[in-house]
Amino acid sequence: MKLAILSRQPDSYSTMRLHLAALDRGHEVDVLDTLRFAIDLAGDEPDMQYRSDPIDDYDAVIPRIGASITYFGTAVVRQFEQMDVYTPNTSNGIANSRDKLRAIQIMSRHEIGMPATAFARTREDVLPAIERVGGAPVVIKLLEGTQGIGVILAPDTRVASAIIETLQSAKQNVLIQAFVSESKGRDVRALVVGDRVVGAMRRTAVGDEFRSNVHRGGTVEAVDLDAEYEETAVRSAQIMGLRVAGVDMLEGADGPLVMEVNSSPGFEGIESATGLDIAGAVIDYVDDQVAFPELDVRQRLTVSTGYGVAELLVREDGSFVGQTIGESGLLDRDISVLTLHRGAQVIPNPRTQRVLEANDRLLCFGRLEEMRDMIPERRRRRTRIRPLPEDPESGRPVDDEAEA
Ligand SMILES: Nc1ncnc2c1ncn2[C@@H]1O[C@H](COP(=O)(O)OP(=O)(O)O)[C@@H](O)[C@H]1O
Ligand SMILES: [Mg+2]
Repeated sequence: MKLAILSRQPDSYSTMRLHLAALDRGHEVDVLDTLRFAIDLAGDEPDMQYRSDPIDDYDAVIPRIGASITYFGTAVVRQFEQMDVYTPNTSNGIANSRDKLRAIQIMSRHEIGMPATAFARTREDVLPAIERVGGAPVVIKLLEGTQGIGVILAPDTRVASAIIETLQSAKQNVLIQAFVSESKGRDVRALVVGDRVVGAMRRTAVGDEFRSNVHRGGTVEAVDLDAEYEETAVRSAQIMGLRVAGVDMLEGADGPLVMEVNSSPGFEGIESATGLDIAGAVIDYVDDQVAFPELDVRQRLTVSTGYGVAELLVREDGSFVGQTIGESGLLDRDISVLTLHRGAQVIPNPRTQRVLEANDRLLCFGRLEEMRDMIPERRRRRTRIRPLPEDPESGRPVDDEAEA
């Protein structure tokens, strides 16, 4: 294949290893400076120039986008996606994982263990947020920090709220997280490529430091992951839309707690700890997938008006239970079942002979109007309804926000 590696540091360990691994396997490969692309939306088709010259016809691109150039870097990757060039990590995946809050929000509905986390803006909301994650000590994190910079341990509530206030006054958004003390300055980094963990290491912080990042002096050793940790790492990467990812997990009392999913994991620590050819595994995976450029399924599927994607529920008391997909009449109503979710099981492209069971969830593409009455009710939350403050004069609730 003809491969481009997007990197601003051709001599860095990770970029060099990818470059050599690709050459070793007989691929054509260029290392291109991410900031030297110009995105070209002037013509009929999405295009791009590199150092003002037309770019070659690449089969695949491997993005190594540093945190300081996320905006421009993801724009370049997005342009490659529009040009149908395969990338293991999509622009969306990179952008989502770069922001620690956004990543946790996305993963939070998927039964992935994570340290209790909160995000609050005003002073009055910060103390209750600290209590909600379990009280001090708490970890405070800059949303876009990396390599351990911007991760602070606050021993008590007073210090915590002072730190948060200071950072916010410097226009920095921070999240508040329970300190997982049982992990004792150690964490696990699992390198996910495709649908499997190709290598894992345990990182241990030096001295009384609690951050175990290699850049903070953490030491590394190879580790054999339990199935639970492997599965959590792979699922986290999948949910984030990353096919090459470094998943950081704390070893909590009840199993893995994911802290973050990195889209440009470094290879030096993990290759030296494990002795494995991680870069080679990345190249082999990309070579395997080149035929399938990343496309935004939702965007492509919903261009026809009135059609869309929806998740339908097989109701316990409904007529579908016990019927096959063929008998259900969905196809006659112009609804195709893309995947069937049954508990933790996912059945892609289910056959028409497949018998439906109560509480199956069907991811479908079809006419929105036909699907409307089969969409499950929104998950109801236990909300406490507080009465609105009353206007002392009229006794009616005050509505300050209404544009009367
Ligand atoms: N909630 C936490 N409890 C205990 N240790 C933590 C927690 N969050 C982070 N750490 C430690 O700090 C390190 C850096 O945190 P992380 O969220 O991965 O940020 P970064 O992007 O800077 O690596 C982790 O590798 C871990 O050792
Ligand atoms: Mg980390």
